[in-house]
Order: sequence, then structure tokens, then C-alpha cells
Amino acid sequence: APDAGRHAQNDGCRTLSLSAHVGFDSLPDQLVRKSIKHGFCFNVLCIGETGIGKSALMSSLFNTNFEDAPSTHFLSSVQLRAQTCELQESNVLLKLTIVKTVGFGDQMNKADSYQPIVDYIDAQFEAYLKEELKVIRSLFSYHDTRIHVCLYFISPTGRCLKTIDLLTMRSLDSKVNIIPVIGKADSISKAELEEFKKKIMSELISNGIQIYQFPTDDETVSEINTIINGHLPFAVVGSMEKVKIGNKMVRARQYPWGIVKVENESHCDTVKLRRMLCTNMEDLREKTCAYYELYRRCRLEKLGCRDIGPENKPISLQEVIEAKRLKFFLEMERKEEEIKQRFVQRVNEKAAMLEEAEQQASMPVCLEFVF
Ligand code: GTP
Repeated sequence: APDAGRHAQNDGCRTLSLSAHVGFDSLPDQLVRKSIKHGFCFNVLCIGETGIGKSALMSSLFNTNFEDAPSTHFLSSVQLRAQTCELQESNVLLKLTIVKTVGFGDQMNKADSYQPIVDYIDAQFEAYLKEELKVIRSLFSYHDTRIHVCLYFISPTGRCLKTIDLLTMRSLDSKVNIIPVIGKADSISKAELEEFKKKIMSELISNGIQIYQFPTDDETVSEINTIINGHLPFAVVGSMEKVKIGNKMVRARQYPWGIVKVENESHCDTVKLRRMLCTNMEDLREKTCAYYELYRRCRLEKLGCRDIGPENKPISLQEVIEAKRLKFFLEMERKEEEIKQRFVQRVNEKAAMLEEAEQQASMPVCLEFVF
């Protein structure tokens, strides 16, 4: 790219000199600038029984206030509640949506507790698909609500997973990245916690439940991610309050016997979880796209769309739409014909009835019979 400002006359020809290096190696910088300008979005789904500490953990992780009124224990079915906020760190904007379950595990019959959650995740995929298939679409400005990560809160019983945990995680593991966390981990002793973690992982494996694995193929994070994968599930503690320790205010839980610091890695894994979420956000978003692809594929196949037709011939979307339209048109024609025939048949039946009635009316009345 010539710099109009810097040129010299040479034998009547202008020699232009470059003001800076120009090459396609500036593409990543352009992408970074564009992404920063556009901002990022990240959607977290928190599943866990009422009062397990979902809001407190979210507030602690993102250093903001996600407090809302305590949920009732008397809902007849599980509901989902979403809250969106915009966060800024340096010049990076993050549109964060926290969705949490309300009334999870409070019903007498818990067999279908996972269904509203599955429906919610599918509804976000469906909304994205609808936007994608629009003629005039605006995916760039579209608020993508697909769930990027699901934090599954396990009660700190120290024993084993409950049936509802296994059922829910199994029904979600093909739709969303699941990261299991042990809620209110300050209520379980250190030795018990290690045993509990092992028990949870062995139960997940024996039940064939796939949880999210932090990627180990990128050498910059492979070492830490391998270590953390071996430490799952995270034992988390959350707090809405800040306590003065020394001359600093820190997020903590104060008890008669001492203070649990949310940010202290020897007290709990909350900071580890935050670090892992932040450093693997892009991977979580990519894996969500892979889950969405699966949903999209099933959905389009159900609608009759195929890439390959008979004899392995590729089919274009246009052909599929044309074929659908033709099928619909033929079906409408068949229905119209059916309605027409039914109408003619009914008219004929009525005409026959009228004729019969007329004939009866014109018959001579037998007086003998009358008297
Ligand atoms: P619902 O919206 O009602 O389902 O609650 P939630 O799961 O969002 O729990 P929330 O964060 O509102 O916390 C419920 C109660 O548990 C509050 O009294 C919190 O102070 C307490 N709590 C939250 N996190 C922890 C924790 O890590 N340890 C302990 N011991 N208590 C906690």
C-alpha cells in the first residue's frame, strides 16, 4: 500500500515508499480488533437443588451480584431463570448470561426433573437455527443464548451421587459441556472431600456420563489442563459477602470457629474454577458449536433435508426445498379433490332425499286410513 505522503521524484517517475510493513500476517490483529469491538458472550447454566449456593458461586466467580429472592420449595415442576449482565475487564466486554434452575429436586416424583432443562437447551439451539435459516438474518448482532457451560452442583453429602444427578447429567451430556462441582464444599472435611471426589468420578464413568474435559492438545495449557482434569469435580465455596481481613476486604464466609476465604486455593477450588473457565472459554464456545451442529443435523434431517441423495448424488438445499414444495402442493391437490368429492356426494344425497320427500308429498291421501 503506497503512502501518498512519502514519495520522491526519480527521472520523472514517482517512487513510493512504504510507511510500515504490509502483509497478511496482520490478519490476526484485525480479528482481535474486530472481536474486541464486538465483545463476547458467555452463557452459564447452573443446575442444583434449591439453596445449594448457585447464586453465591456465580457472584463470587464473576465478582458481581447475582443475588435474587430465595426460591420456593413448592414448585410443581423445575423452572429456569436467566439473568444477563455486561461485564468489562480492560477493554474487553463480556455479555454474561447466568441461567439457574428453580425448584430442582423439590418434587415428589423426580423422574422427569431433567426434562425442562433439556427443553431449555434445545430451545436455545432452535432459536439460533431459526435465525440462521432466516432470509434476512443478523447473526452478528444476534444475542446467542446457547449454553456454553453447565455447572452441575452436587450436594456435599460425602456419600454418592443421587439418582436425579445421574439421570440429569446423562440426559444432558450430548447437548452441553458439563462441569461437575461440589457445592458448599466448606461443609465437608478435607479427607472426606478427596474420597468423595474419587467416588463421584468413578460413578460418572461407570454410568457412562461424559463430562467436559479441559483440552490438552494445546501445549500452552496442556500441563495445567491435564492436572485439573485429574482434580475434577471442583469443590466450590461461594459468598455474597466481603469480610475485612487485615486491611483488605475479601469474599469469605465467617463462622464462629474461623473464616473460609473463597479466593484461597487451600480452602476451596473456586479460584481454580474461575481460572479454568476464563482460560478455556473459547474451547467451551467451540464445543458448544459442535453440540449445536449435532442438534441442527438431526433437526434438518427430520425436516427431510439431505446432503446426499439416491446413488450418492449430492442434493442442494434448493432441490430439497423444491421437492418439499412439490410434495406439499400434491398433498394439497389430493385434499382438495377429496373435499370436492365429499361435497358432490353430500349434494347428491340431499337431492335424493328431497326427491323422495316430494314423491311422498304428491301421493293421494287415503281417506279410509285417515278416518
Ligand atoms: P435458590 O435460588 O434458592 O435455589 O438458591 P441458590 O442455589 O442460588 O443458593 P444461594 O446462593 O442463594 O445460597 C443459599 C444459602 O446458602 C445462603 O444462605 C448462602 O449464604 C448459603 N451458601 C451459599 N454458598 C455457600 C457455601 O459455599 N457454603 C455454605 N456453607 N453456604 C453457602
